[in-house]
Amino acid sequence: MAHNFFIALEGIDGSGKSTQTKLLHHLLSKAGMQVQIDFEPTDNEIGRLLRHIFSGKINANQYTIAALFAADRLDHILNPKNGLQKKLAEGYTVICDRYYLSSLAYHSVHVPIDWVMDCNKMAMQLLKPHLHVFVDVPPALAMQRLKQSRPQLEMYETLSNLEAVYAKYQEAIEKINAEENIFRVDGTQNPDSISALIFEELQRRFSI
Ligand code: ADP
Ligand code: TYD
Repeated sequence: MAHNFFIALEGIDGSGKSTQTKLLHHLLSKAGMQVQIDFEPTDNEIGRLLRHIFSGKINANQYTIAALFAADRLDHILNPKNGLQKKLAEGYTVICDRYYLSSLAYHSVHVPIDWVMDCNKMAMQLLKPHLHVFVDVPPALAMQRLKQSRPQLEMYETLSNLEAVYAKYQEAIEKINAEENIFRVDGTQNPDSISALIFEELQRRFSI
């Protein structure tokens, strides 16, 4: 392997990206890499604030929420204790469950996508993933998986919300595709077949 990598896993809720994050961790570790899993929203202060907003404890409008996600991301990149730049400098390959493509998709349902891009410009300059992996699953299938996996769904986990975010992912991917490495993987197959496809793509692009 030439060097360590930063890989972002993306997709609508229920697409299986958390499952793929773990399977990829296993495959890359087996290939001899030092790998860490990370996620957004983070467990740091701003990430926790966002979870309070989602749980309804704190009220915030959609511009504020999008800006907080961008702030959480900057802290995630730059935090001297546990930030992404630090982990990558230490030689870890980091697989991140959601990154700025999530912001472009989720927030542009409510506010203009160019404004979300502006909020994330600094993060996009500081740390681009070597690869964004979009786990592509039709919203109806993602909804079915969510229903099967959870006793109760969150209020926002409806088919129409999944469809809206899915459509925005397509718009966001088209918008940044020229400047970013994005791999769309068919997420309707079984988990091991999907992770094998992602691993093959990493081998093809980066000769791991
Ligand atoms: P996400 O992180 O995208 O919300 P998860 O990885 O948590 O999705 O998966 C949601 C549910 O779907 C879980 O119950 C998981 O076991 C199941 N699941 C994940 N990937 C697949 C797959 N490829 N085929 C069938 N079920 C899957
Ligand atoms: P997460 O905890 O990853 O939920 P899940 O495991 O179900 O994917 O993310 C919580 C929610 O935060 C999820 O619905 C997506 C949303 N989100 C944004 O709205 N903007 C963002 O920038 C990110 C990273 C996540």
